[in-house]
Amino acid sequence: MTEQLEFYRCNVCGNFVEVVFSGDGELVCCGQPMEHLKPKNKSEEMMGEKHVPVIHTTDSGFDIKVGSVPHPMEQSHYIAFIEATSPDKRYVKRKYLFPHEEPVLKLKCNCDDGIIAREFCNIHGLWTSEEDSEE
Ligand SMILES: [Fe+2]
Repeated sequence: MTEQLEFYRCNVCGNFVEVVFSGDGELVCCGQPMEHLKPKNKSEEMMGEKHVPVIHTTDSGFDIKVGSVPHPMEQSHYIAFIEATSPDKRYVKRKYLFPHEEPVLKLKCNCDDGIIAREFCNIHGLWTSEEDSEE
């Protein structure tokens, strides 16, 4: 069973998917179950300051930066994407990043209920700004 907006990766071929609508089945790729990537948050003692998205309110929406200490954006180690989701999951925006770019997503919206941010580091995995994301 999957849940909406969960991420899964195939550890054989690298396919990386996000669930648009949930279903009862198991996601399989290259003949084996895909790995469910569970986001880490600031409760992680190691590396959280470089990975947890930091959300700044602006006049027109939000700036989401990774993290409170700037994360490397080198060829071998970088933030591959930042994603913002409204708490009710009605709106999703993802920005793909490349080495040497600044790991920032500038979001224009009237998000009165705030925003949840997730980012993916090619080495250290998935991280979220949301507390208590671990299940
Ligand atoms: Fe990293």
